[in-house]
Amino acid sequence: MIALPDFPWDRLAPYKELASAHPGGIVDLSVGTPVDPVPEVARSALAEAANSPGYPQTYGTARLREAAARWLRRRHGVTVDPAAVLPTIGSKELVAWLPTLLGVGPGQRVIFPELAYPTYDVGARLAGAEPYPADGLLALGPERAALVWVNSPSNPTGRVLPPEHLRKVVAWARERGAVVASDECYIELGWEERPVSILHPEVCGGSHEGLLAVHSLSKRSNLAGYRAGFIAGDPELVRRLLEIRKHAGMMVPAPVQAAMVAVLDDDRHAEEQRERYARRRAALRPALERAGWIIEHSVAGLYLWATNGTDCWEQVRALAERGILVAPGEFYGPAGRRYVRIAVTASDERIAAAVDRLK
Ligand SMILES: Cc1ncc(COP(=O)(O)O)c(C=O)c1O
Repeated sequence: MIALPDFPWDRLAPYKELASAHPGGIVDLSVGTPVDPVPEVARSALAEAANSPGYPQTYGTARLREAAARWLRRRHGVTVDPAAVLPTIGSKELVAWLPTLLGVGPGQRVIFPELAYPTYDVGARLAGAEPYPADGLLALGPERAALVWVNSPSNPTGRVLPPEHLRKVVAWARERGAVVASDECYIELGWEERPVSILHPEVCGGSHEGLLAVHSLSKRSNLAGYRAGFIAGDPELVRRLLEIRKHAGMMVPAPVQAAMVAVLDDDRHAEEQRERYARRRAALRPALERAGWIIEHSVAGLYLWATNGTDCWEQVRALAERGILVAPGEFYGPAGRRYVRIAVTASDERIAAAVDRLK
């Protein structure tokens, strides 16, 4: 049996109960799941493609790969051949299986940030590889690794890695023959700083060799329930992943592929969604600060990374007593022990309730 960590969210259940007992109801800022409607462009494209009796293509339709390439160019200054795009069933499955799909295994290291989305660690374990949390690659010296994850904007901290930092990661990995996978699922949600893709020429010097960017439409387009993501980058790596995913049946349903084309070609709904999050963040941040929390990083993405100096579970309890549920920083690594992660993914009404309760 593979040793996987306990599913952390189960440990939050008693605090969920406590927060739910608040007379005004729970304000759930823990998981970070979208709560706003699926944009009309996505729904109508999905409905129009409802009559899809045949198997979808693992590689995705040409229309989908072209739409993803157009979006990368238009929004992120990244040029990829549509042949080097591959749809995924949301990005979580790809994060969990990438080491396995790349053939990373026992005796090999998968590096990811010290404070990170837990699935990078899970993916290393599923492959039988060694999970290796490390922020400073240079401190690793001559150590080797098979795969390096970066995540900018970060979950949980909302930190953005500047181009010069990403350039160093790329150089470090190329010297060692490691693949760099860049999880860019929050890339459209920069607030005080503008996130840049690993595939941007300023970062990679124009070559995508050894690089994969991982994208998701869950947050940009409220498609978490559709399971819609894709990867792009090194054509040879994408081809290898496609081969295995074809054999393994890892294909995105055809109506979802159609919805993805529609949202990738439409920026208006994404801008409206961005504005909603910006508003909620602007309301919540000062309310937390007035209540004694310090917000660190959090210049992009959907989370406020906050501390009042006490143990994370104490902070979870203090907020749950006010009916507000947040995630303990410990879920993201030992360095998060004195932090909580607060998602801005609740309705305007629920965010206003949280602001009121923090007074
Ligand atoms: C950093 C990061 N990567 C990947 C995912 C997975 O997102 P999805 O599977 O919805 O694309 C999440 C979800 O919250 C995330 O925070």
